[in-house]
Amino acid sequence: MRKKIIAANWKMNMTVGETEGFFKPFLLELGGEKQVEVVIVPPFTSLAKAGEILRNVQNVKLGAQNMSAEKSGAFTGEISAAMLRELFVRYVVLGHSERRTIFGETDEIVNKKTHAAHAATLRPIVCIGETLAERDGNQVEAVLEKQIRGSLAGLSADQLEETVIAYEPVWAIGTGRTATPQQAQDAHAFIRRKLTELWDAATADKVRIQYGGSVKPANTAELMSQPDIDGALVGGASLDPRGFAEIVLATVKLAN
Ligand code: 13P
Repeated sequence: MRKKIIAANWKMNMTVGETEGFFKPFLLELGGEKQVEVVIVPPFTSLAKAGEILRNVQNVKLGAQNMSAEKSGAFTGEISAAMLRELFVRYVVLGHSERRTIFGETDEIVNKKTHAAHAATLRPIVCIGETLAERDGNQVEAVLEKQIRGSLAGLSADQLEETVIAYEPVWAIGTGRTATPQQAQDAHAFIRRKLTELWDAATADKVRIQYGGSVKPANTAELMSQPDIDGALVGGASLDPRGFAEIVLATVKLAN
């Protein structure tokens, strides 16, 4: 059984003050819930504050939105795995479509970062997904396969098990246009088949695959009840503490 994982990708939102304001209502709504893994992914500048607030909270983990593949040195503006570890960060989102399209990150770069994350015992959340033009051109499977082969190249079975994959169709991000549960399930099942082919069935069966793209409280249950959807990477709707708690709790309900 794969434990579902719901993550809040705050993107370039939430100052330190706003981060403080988020946690009180969020933790109150969430209570001691432990059946679903919850990860908050603030901007770098809020990680220390979030880590401080979460120090004695067992059921909410911290993630970062990006990381350098390099260990240290002359890389102005970059953040290393060790810097994140020091702030009690456990997960790192890599290869988000915004990083790929706006900042030119390739599968090769994402792959280097994925290896660097594992080397530092950070768990990568590796994002993949097709654009609308690629979907309309029947390229979904070809694009996903290329991204899987490129971004996850060279991972051992043990490392793959500790990797979360986020399927985020680019056309569903921030658009209010969610993939239908069937579209998402089909993509997730394809991803798992590819992992089986490239690694093995036992390993592929353990990998958690999140869906991302306009997830909100109202569509959570239907998406999360698909057999190969193991969680969500939530953007806009994760900025509202009560709404995000609702997404987590709707997922918990399915586990019972
Ligand atoms: P939205 O939930 O705002 O569509 O963003 C999805 C996403 O990109 C999460 O990483």
